[in-house]
Amino acid sequence: MEVKNEKVLILDFGGQYSQLIARRVRDLNVYCEIKSYKINPEKIISNGYKGIIFSGGPNSVYAENAPKCNSKIFDLGIPILGICYGAQLMAHLLGGKVDSSNIKEYGNTTVEFNENLSLLENVNKKSVCWMSHTDYISSVPEGFNIIGRTENCPVAYMQDSKRKLYAVQFHPEVEHTKDGNKIISNFLYNICGCRGDWKTDSFILDAIENIKKQVGNKKVLCALSGGVDSSVAAVLVHKAIGKQLTCIFVDHGLLRKDEGDSVEKIFRNQFDINLIRVNAQERFLNKLAGISEPEAKRKIIGEEFIRVFEEEAKKLDNVDILCQGTIYPDVVESGTEEADVIKSHHNVGGLPKNMAFCDIIEPLRNLFKDEVRKVGLDLGIPKDLVYRQPFPGPGLAIRIIGDITPQKLDMLREADYIFREEIQNWNFEKEPNQFFAVLTNIKSVGVMGDGRTYDYTVALRAVNTSDFMTADWARIPYDLLEKVSIRIINEVKNINRVVYDITSKPPATIEWE
Ligand code: XMP
Repeated sequence: MEVKNEKVLILDFGGQYSQLIARRVRDLNVYCEIKSYKINPEKIISNGYKGIIFSGGPNSVYAENAPKCNSKIFDLGIPILGICYGAQLMAHLLGGKVDSSNIKEYGNTTVEFNENLSLLENVNKKSVCWMSHTDYISSVPEGFNIIGRTENCPVAYMQDSKRKLYAVQFHPEVEHTKDGNKIISNFLYNICGCRGDWKTDSFILDAIENIKKQVGNKKVLCALSGGVDSSVAAVLVHKAIGKQLTCIFVDHGLLRKDEGDSVEKIFRNQFDINLIRVNAQERFLNKLAGISEPEAKRKIIGEEFIRVFEEEAKKLDNVDILCQGTIYPDVVESGTEEADVIKSHHNVGGLPKNMAFCDIIEPLRNLFKDEVRKVGLDLGIPKDLVYRQPFPGPGLAIRIIGDITPQKLDMLREADYIFREEIQNWNFEKEPNQFFAVLTNIKSVGVMGDGRTYDYTVALRAVNTSDFMTADWARIPYDLLEKVSIRIINEVKNINRVVYDITSKPPATIEWE
């Protein structure tokens, strides 16, 4: 889907913060795209980018396979901001000198600026910035001035105003850089002349127009999971084409308590979307019977999901287009036309591309998750759903250790519901980012009244995390844990022990399987 807004280009040199740079730019209401450093300068011109940001990267500019962009980019007259490796590369390609140090400058450092230029509007002369580098610029290219330095870094900021080339050794995109956001904002608005036209409401209007154009009078099918992405995609497409859209919601019986009904209520009653709910619980449970190995469970669920969806789709007449809730990080992580594959994206429960549809629409393809959420709220999707914590595609199947039975599912659903309810009722300043119960495969001895019991152990898991790649176990209050433990033992049959998981990620993962 074409974006008409003004655009900025983020050139990716393999840095871990490329997506973070893009999110900062978008938060400042400027649309941007991440592309590989291999991009052709002609493509930069034809796309009409108003500015370019070079990301950081793990390499030294002298390394054999160091990523290097085409030097003609510097002659396009488009303002460039180089960050960390991007700054060093700019220096190196334009005739400056980059040296290697034997000490790494890492963490918070004070940078001192010696001039007040437009990149530094409202920025303190002495400001804390985040550094992470070993190589450093030791001599700047002709035409550049040194504007900022730190104790260990002689060139923390250099610029050539004539050619509109700017380079900072520190990371303005990282929260620890106190004035980082101001620096990025100054680059976008003062230097690139952006107006800031990237806003949720204009996105929705443009998306609706694009969807209408692309769909015409054809019919669209969407696999609705009740997760944030597919829900927002479905409501957006519905807004554009109404009853030409049909959603299929496959209830595989592995959802949390009342979840299937709540998805149905929102989409059928609130939005009046054509919704087919497929109650395929038995089918999935039969396939999963006796299976304990986590990856085998995932595979079975993924395949069965596709089979059920295909069967339902075949029953409908003339469906030509499939709507998918792909979002920007999926696109970037799968590799764009220029980018190397950073991480191959697999979405368990997702649909293969080669289904019998002529066309695919992905209305959220250019959005980050927080943007998807804003769009969802603007479209009137309930806050609970928009801010729903992640829930794995294979659902409770990977929260029951060992084989899955309807009884175990019922036990887990109840225990999980109690835990979530008590967390929600607790007056948390900030709730943990993800929390759930796991049914372990352990049976242990207990005593209930005067009798001996031999029943299951439930584990509670709650984590704090910003990206779900690493996570810290949440220090939730003992009193809350006690309340949950008492309720689970009293209210859920066949559970006689509750434990709390105090492992962070790494070394553990968030889920138990
Ligand atoms: P882990 O357990 O790897 O989980 O630390 C990180 C995040 O991913 C979710 N997760 C999944 N999501 N399909 C999904 O759609 C899966 O198979 C899956 N496994 C884990 C998990 O809930 C956490 O948010």
